[in-house]
Amino acid sequence: MLKITFLPDKKNIEVNQGTTALEALERAGINIDTPCGGKGICGKCKILINTGITTATPIEEELLSEEEIKKGFRLACQAKLFKDTIIEVPSEIRLDFKGVFSSNLKGDIHRIKKNFALDSNLKKVFLGLEKPSLDDQRSDWERIKDGLSLKKIENISNLKISLPILKKIPLLIRKADFRVTVTICNDEIMDLESDNTAKKSYGMAFDIGTTTVVGYLIDLGSGEELSAVAKTNPQIIHGDDVISRIGFAQQPKGGLEKLQKEIVITLNEIIRETTQKAEIDKSNIYETVIVGNTCMHHLFLGLNPIHLAPSPYIPVIKESLSLKVKDIPGLSLNPAANIYMLPNISAFVGADILAGILSTSMWREDKTILLVDLGTNGEVVLGLKKKLWACSVAAGPAFEGARISSGMRAAEGAINKVKIDSKFIIYKVIEDGKVRGICGSGLIDLIAELLKLGLINKSGKLIGREEGNSELSEEIRKRIIKGQKGNKFLLVKGKETENGKPLYLTQRDIREVQLAKAAIFAGIKILLKEVNIPLEDIQEILLAGAFGNFIDKKSAVRIGLLPNLPLKKIESVGNAAGRGAEITLCSNKMREVSEEISKKVKYVELSSRPDFQEEFIKAMIF
Ligand code: FES
Repeated sequence: MLKITFLPDKKNIEVNQGTTALEALERAGINIDTPCGGKGICGKCKILINTGITTATPIEEELLSEEEIKKGFRLACQAKLFKDTIIEVPSEIRLDFKGVFSSNLKGDIHRIKKNFALDSNLKKVFLGLEKPSLDDQRSDWERIKDGLSLKKIENISNLKISLPILKKIPLLIRKADFRVTVTICNDEIMDLESDNTAKKSYGMAFDIGTTTVVGYLIDLGSGEELSAVAKTNPQIIHGDDVISRIGFAQQPKGGLEKLQKEIVITLNEIIRETTQKAEIDKSNIYETVIVGNTCMHHLFLGLNPIHLAPSPYIPVIKESLSLKVKDIPGLSLNPAANIYMLPNISAFVGADILAGILSTSMWREDKTILLVDLGTNGEVVLGLKKKLWACSVAAGPAFEGARISSGMRAAEGAINKVKIDSKFIIYKVIEDGKVRGICGSGLIDLIAELLKLGLINKSGKLIGREEGNSELSEEIRKRIIKGQKGNKFLLVKGKETENGKPLYLTQRDIREVQLAKAAIFAGIKILLKEVNIPLEDIQEILLAGAFGNFIDKKSAVRIGLLPNLPLKKIESVGNAAGRGAEITLCSNKMREVSEEISKKVKYVELSSRPDFQEEFIKAMIF
């Protein structure tokens, strides 16, 4: 066995010869960003090997610079270990699963807009029962049913009670001096508690994204959001897009089970943190609603997503599902509590988009509205006279900061805003610390600014120092540097970054953004063609997803991500999917509405549209 030490953690583990550094990191419980899922494509998993260095593989030679290889940098997914080794794991590649996105939620705690009635099937009833005597030998269960009847609860004769709750009754009601609260849902006794807890009735709404998982704790009595927590989806270590996850799920050594377990652990952490924040007991959570893209939906349920990816793209199920907590192994909630899974629309347009359609009310509007969700996968929905069309585009994860040389997610240390004039560069860093990288909104700003200055041309080429606009200052001009693989632009000098290395925008980064923005724009064009209306007829564009909140609309229009419309027509709607999950948590009527919407949405399959490629190529131009 080999001894592997990780720094600065000083963690030691033992592994067999030939284990990759990535496998060793996973075994040591150190999570790092692996956007390509360890396939040797992205070059992001850079570690520094202090002792026990291996010869660089051809992939490492391609993705690392000569200088990096000389210094001992290797790719964790490629470097195999054959000696005792000391490995330094840089902070910028580490994934911090402890709520890195919590800053995105600030100011997001609010009362759900009451554009629907609170009509949950759940009832909690407090009963002060008569005590048994020789003159009153009714059974405990009869006594409870009679108490419920006095409180005018209907259908008592059909009420069902499970054996675990029956077992609780004799001791619990006597200890509580016959003062108990009964929780009933759909003719079933869900819980029995001592004393009056009738007001303690809560639910959890989850939005499981490929990158981020958000959970909201809701008071079912008032519809009030009590707390919210966001975490990185831990499955990200197996790749940052759904295709990598589908691939990992096929691993013979329990890939699917592992993915399900990882997401369940994260939901449990969110439940613990939201209930702690709101100071409530998680045993009083009786309802859970889950939305997510179709792949995340399948992985949460332990359904093999294998047929989602190859044509003809078939999910196991699209319809809504009503389950019990006990159906999901390891989920730490009252086992009798309900789980409602919203319907999916297609293999690549999931329940999260349906929830967004619901919460934005676009399903009942006569206006022409576009809903654009800029997640790892891009989804576009067009609403016109209460009819709906949807498509999904493989935009790639560039806007999440992946596959970008200095890219990162919108977390502490990320540049999220950039302004450049002919002389100065101004940028904003999340939480104001030293720069760790650039996130999607910063990247869009940066490219928009360089386009404005003429430093990026229409085809996306970063032009040479000498070609620039003559009014450009020397300060800006000298930031254009000739690299081995095209020019690059120096945004931040090494002295201002956390790792002391300068932060560049490379030609390859620009190409990644071009591919992403062209895919989204082409998707918009195809949906408009479906209904035969021009871009100018769009009355509103709703930007969904956490990323949509940070994006500068002007920059998004400038780079051609969104149509060139007056900015007042573009609105960020935050986590519309999470809001939709909250609404369906509190309202049965809205669950029915969401099921109707899912049948109404016309899914447009872009892979069968020859004109998609034409639109995509046109949209590549800046
Ligand atoms: S190259 Fe190692 S994770 Fe992508």
